[in-house]
Amino acid sequence: MIPSVGTPIGIRDILQGLSGDKDLPDVFRRCTGVRYCYFTNSGTTAFYLILRALKTLSSRRKVVLPAYTAPSLILPVRKAGLKPALAEVSLDTFNLDVDRLEDYVDEDTLCVVPVHMFGLPCDMTGVKEIARSKDAFVVEDAASSLGSELDGRPTGTLGDLGFYSFNRGKNLTTLTGGCVVTDSDRLGDAVGGHWRRLPRPPGISRLLIPAKTVGLALAFRPLGYTLLYPIVARFKYTELHTDFDVFAYTKFQARMGGSLFLRAEEVFRMREENGAFLYDSLSEVEGLKLPKIPPNSRVAFNQFPILLGNKTVRDSLHLRIRKELGLETTLLYPEPIHRIYDLGYEASPDPFPNSTRLARRLLLIPTHPLVRREMLEGVVELIRGHLSCYRGGT
Ligand SMILES: Cc1ncc(COP(=O)(O)O)c(C=O)c1O
Repeated sequence: MIPSVGTPIGIRDILQGLSGDKDLPDVFRRCTGVRYCYFTNSGTTAFYLILRALKTLSSRRKVVLPAYTAPSLILPVRKAGLKPALAEVSLDTFNLDVDRLEDYVDEDTLCVVPVHMFGLPCDMTGVKEIARSKDAFVVEDAASSLGSELDGRPTGTLGDLGFYSFNRGKNLTTLTGGCVVTDSDRLGDAVGGHWRRLPRPPGISRLLIPAKTVGLALAFRPLGYTLLYPIVARFKYTELHTDFDVFAYTKFQARMGGSLFLRAEEVFRMREENGAFLYDSLSEVEGLKLPKIPPNSRVAFNQFPILLGNKTVRDSLHLRIRKELGLETTLLYPEPIHRIYDLGYEASPDPFPNSTRLARRLLLIPTHPLVRREMLEGVVELIRGHLSCYRGGT
């Protein structure tokens, strides 16, 4: 079985984590050219530090997020004592609908959070224009888009501040981890003040991180994943979190990440090529829709999203691809945010129907470097056959 996520981690990287001399924050700063870069235990913590910093600079309270994105983004907004406000997404781009964003941004908006879903860059010119017209900050969620670019610049560095995640499903992983980036002295200082006060994770967690990383490296291999699948499957869809840990990044992760980052460009290129192959092969297939790719962009696909005609056909394809090809696709996220958390929105009529549609009809195909091209060819054939039977009513 091939897992839905998988960035190769080798023995060498783990040994470097234990006693190496490369440090991810240093390498990252040098490669991206960002002025301020603060590593944390997760992307959620990185976002939380940003919100706490912005709160010291403004009395505004609203944080505008897409209604279809990682539901966990609500937790740092609430923990920071701010108010989440949702905005509709586009069925053309699968990202924030910039044509309607103005409806959701007002004089109480502290920041707008464009999320580059699946690695697809958001229209940052449009987002920035609307945010600027209301004096709101732009905080890019580049958790899933490390390696993607817009107009020659890395996603995450196009707004006032950005953040990345290095959790196990991301384009580069150090098991867990996150990072805030900004080029602004004022914002860098404000985040830095909070970052310097982050506690270290407890001793036992620090010891477990290398051990868990070895487990993850094995689970990313087809044989390892096939053997571990019965255990992994039990923990796959866990309960919704109600809180999160706020800790510093560990030395092991920083050193291992420094080693991994040297191969990051190769990993991003493979994600881009796998995505381009799927795009070309599926663009003429009837019965599914692909996202529009923004002009002047490079997409390091975290996963490749296809929008199907209904939930039944999506769910049956998900099952068939796993059973017949041994490849795990995913159905992220099960519902849009307004249907998961009570944020005061009416259930009916649905205030964010496009978000509900994406949650129920998107199928995500892995693009990571461990997926071979023959496997993707098989996926394309299976999807074609399935949709043609479906249209024929068989
Ligand atoms: C779009 C997006 N934003 C934020 C996060 C949070 O990152 P982390 O899991 O590192 O806390 C995730 C996590 O999967 C994500 O997909």
